[in-house]
Amino acid sequence: MTFHVLTLFPEMITEATSHSILGRAVRSNAIQVNPVNIRDFAVNKHGQVDDSPYGGGAGMVMMASPIYDAYQHVANMANSNAPVIYLSPQGKVLTQAKAQELSSLKEIILLCGHYEGIDERVIEEIVTEEISIGDYVLTGGEPAALVLMDAVARLVPGVLGKAESFQDESFAGDVLQLEYPHYTRPPVFRGREVPEVLLSGNHGKIAEWRRNASLERTRRKRPELELSPLKKNLD
Ligand SMILES: C[S@@+](CC[C@H](N)C(=O)[O-])C[C@H]1O[C@@H](n2cnc3c(N)ncnc32)[C@H](O)[C@@H]1O
Repeated sequence: MTFHVLTLFPEMITEATSHSILGRAVRSNAIQVNPVNIRDFAVNKHGQVDDSPYGGGAGMVMMASPIYDAYQHVANMANSNAPVIYLSPQGKVLTQAKAQELSSLKEIILLCGHYEGIDERVIEEIVTEEISIGDYVLTGGEPAALVLMDAVARLVPGVLGKAESFQDESFAGDVLQLEYPHYTRPPVFRGREVPEVLLSGNHGKIAEWRRNASLERTRRKRPELELSPLKKNLD
């Protein structure tokens, strides 16, 4: 899977995807990350990519044509059906289900805004979808693109090792529920013991304990997740 990222700060994308599990996935070619510097398509030799807003007001607005030209550059090499996702606080909030849906695609084009945002006309021209990572405002789209890439990439076959499987995780599966708690050595830490059942070697009992722990902590930490399929399980 290839993530093309249209950005003014390509180093942020390259650097953050060169470590840990994503870094390993890039090196093994399980995913490709292609940051495209919008400034390479600046409107003049001074590298201009933004200008003051029509109608006045604070801040700068990213100009339409450098973004459009950067997009055209990518579109020439990308699958023409690749979605163009603008990371924006005005988009639909990213969910695990959305990450799952995107993980089946071969290519995604991500557009990162900065400053006050982007000239609306280029959004209308090229963007197929807007995605937010939450109801708060960041200084730029790069951290949001990295969140999306991380959530999607780890669902791409070959990215996680068997030991890092996502099958039991929070939000995995048909019911929205949180994962059970984890413990590792030592068996006692500052007087707190690992639940005895986890040391028993009884796989049936361990699975049952984990199911119950999952339901209990979902109800306690995120009661709003008690949507109908989960509610059925809890009742
Ligand atoms: C300072 S924000 C612009 C906010 C814009 N003026 C507004 O009020 O909707 C600059 C850029 O950061 C990114 N951004 C900010 N918050 C975000 C969020 N919650 N999710 C995704 N991207 C975000 C977007 O790419 C945006 O163009």
